[in-house]
Amino acid sequence: MMKVVDLFCGCGGLSLGFQNAGFEIIAAYDNWEAALNVYKQNFDHPAGNIDLSNISESAEVIGNHCPDMIIGGPPCQDFSSAGKRNEEGGRGDLTVCYAKIINEIRPKWFVMENVARITQTQKLVDAKDIFHKAGYGLSQFVLDASLCGVPQKRKRFFLIGKLHETDNFMNPFVMEGLANKPMTLRDYFGDTLGLEYYYRHPRSYARRGIFSIDEPSPTVRGVNRPMPEGYQIHTNDPVKSKEGIRPLTTIERSYIQTFPKDFSFVGNKTAVEQMIGNAVPVNLANFVANAIKKYLNKPHYQRSLEIDFENQNIEQRLARYVSEPSPKGNYKTKK
Ligand SMILES: C[S@@+](CC[C@H](N)C(=O)[O-])C[C@H]1O[C@@H](n2cnc3c(N)ncnc32)[C@H](O)[C@@H]1O
Repeated sequence: MMKVVDLFCGCGGLSLGFQNAGFEIIAAYDNWEAALNVYKQNFDHPAGNIDLSNISESAEVIGNHCPDMIIGGPPCQDFSSAGKRNEEGGRGDLTVCYAKIINEIRPKWFVMENVARITQTQKLVDAKDIFHKAGYGLSQFVLDASLCGVPQKRKRFFLIGKLHETDNFMNPFVMEGLANKPMTLRDYFGDTLGLEYYYRHPRSYARRGIFSIDEPSPTVRGVNRPMPEGYQIHTNDPVKSKEGIRPLTTIERSYIQTFPKDFSFVGNKTAVEQMIGNAVPVNLANFVANAIKKYLNKPHYQRSLEIDFENQNIEQRLARYVSEPSPKGNYKTKK
């Protein structure tokens, strides 16, 4: 099985999804001790503290593992729509650092995860240029986690690269696995959460704060605020009284990120909430890993035929998933 190194590993959502699909993670790196502590509690392979903006040092350390694949989600705060949009500087540069590390090591495969908005940045253009010059064929997707086995409306960008391949080589293998309808909390948990509605603090009071378990959860973020005393019911709230409605707990939010019950979180609440919100949902990572396995298991001639066929309408198919309107109370709620 392929040997994989995870960069910017956080507490290990991406690692766990690939590991569950049968990939062998041999090492992981981050520079945040709190996340590395959690990572080490849950995996047997080494997890090291490295500043991945130091390209030559990182490439030397990581290259010693001779990985077949490098996976990683460089931090996205600077160009996340939740953050302070500073995509041309600061931590946004770590995307390009990631590309430079890949270029130095040249594993057969790499996977890069990020926020959907990266598609509008110069950083992505620069990173893809580095990958192409290094000889990688590239496939890119914005995936809605709720169509990939996660009860959460979370859109995330993935760039998959393989040496000596043609661009878009992964398209049919990713598209064929997508569900036809978003997964709701009830689909995933049944009635085990013991609630019908819950509070999730909105970014502005123009948006609703109450959600039903008969819809996917909104994106799990790195902070979890209580319902303010004076919260006014919003027209789009699926229920007209706030009586008995509470925010989800830290551990419930980890379950929505599809971490399993036996995954152990240690450390202070603020840090744990942050690493859970940062994580790639385990099942979303698993979805991408399984698509790669399907590619590896198909005879090459069949892949070429499928790619020719699928490329004819891939843009339309992707647009359908990417431009779906946000729920805003449009989902049916249980009476
Ligand atoms: C989006 S999170 C990654 C989440 C992870 N892929 C997961 O699924 O759990 C980005 C991570 O990059 C790490 N990071 C930020 N700057 C870094 C740097 N210069 N070197 C190494 N890691 C860094 C952060 O500590 C954070 O854990």
